[in-house]
Amino acid sequence: MLLSVEKLQIAFGQFTAVRDATLSVRKGQILGLVGESGSGKSITATAIVGLLGYVGGHIASGRVLFNDKDLTSMSEERLRRLRGKRIGLITQNPMTSLDPLITVGKQIDQATRLHLGLSRRAAVERSLALMKDVRIPDPVKVYGLYPHQLSGGMKQRIVIAMALAAEPDLLIADEPTTALDATVQAQIMRILVELVKERGLGMILITHDMGVVAQTCDEVAVMYCGRIVERSPVHAVFATPRHPYTEALIRCIPRSTMQTGTLVGIPGQVPSPVALPKGCSFHPRCGKSQSICHERVPEFRQGQGHAGVACHLVESL
Ligand SMILES: Nc1ncnc2c1ncn2[C@@H]1O[C@H](COP(=O)(O)OP(=O)(O)O)[C@@H](O)[C@H]1O
Ligand SMILES: [Mg+2]
Repeated sequence: MLLSVEKLQIAFGQFTAVRDATLSVRKGQILGLVGESGSGKSITATAIVGLLGYVGGHIASGRVLFNDKDLTSMSEERLRRLRGKRIGLITQNPMTSLDPLITVGKQIDQATRLHLGLSRRAAVERSLALMKDVRIPDPVKVYGLYPHQLSGGMKQRIVIAMALAAEPDLLIADEPTTALDATVQAQIMRILVELVKERGLGMILITHDMGVVAQTCDEVAVMYCGRIVERSPVHAVFATPRHPYTEALIRCIPRSTMQTGTLVGIPGQVPSPVALPKGCSFHPRCGKSQSICHERVPEFRQGQGHAGVACHLVESL
């Protein structure tokens, strides 16, 4: 297993934001981490790459095994070397990863020189090759441009090239296309999927869109209020979603055949993380809830393979 996150608990001071998160990624596999805003996807990614300290959080318990090494017990120094080299992070807004004052080619050079110790000339060659890998037309011309001279989609390709610069084993893409329009989104997703499959990387793709999961992922982990409520191979989750929240997310996928104005959302709101309802966090929004759902937090139960669900109402797995 490339990455195994086991019973991860993330806290900010006394406040626990993520509980009992267990997930894993193999080489060549794309895991979708899906859930509405505030469910804990980004901080889970932040914990995996070891940057939680920078946002004021810490890992309260659990393990993050990367190539069988526990990152939670690693020194800052070793973690810093690993991060960026073996794990590439792609964030939602490319401008948080790009320096507006340096040409994009030089920025990719910096990434390869830092991680691979290449000479200046070798770094330029490699940057041009990486730009080709992310399907940038005319890399020689684009090399000398500044970020503001590029479209959103081209900037995101540069960020992906930078994330690939050190030949990582794992990519974490946190809503990498949210800021882009639909056509460009589809292009970027295609590039990411091809890169993962061609190079045998593992990828965690964070999204709030089950439609993206259907098109790109092999497995999915559904998060709600800081817990993983369902894990499943993607084909199985669309055939038979187990958790009512998963079902609701699937109903939210916009369909091209739908008339405009009929886009559905999940009724009700995500509860405040500091005032979670008793029992199952989803019960106030769940059409099927019963009295036990108001009383007890459902345990995550493992079924066959990596599948599992945390819902009182699911009897057999
Ligand atoms: N820097 C922070 N300080 C305190 N709490 C935070 C911080 N970042 C995130 N959280 C908490 O973690 C929850 C999940 O946040 P996040 O991982 O960003 O959600 P998502 O990416 O799923 O939208 C938030 O609702 C918030 O309660
Ligand atoms: Mg997020």
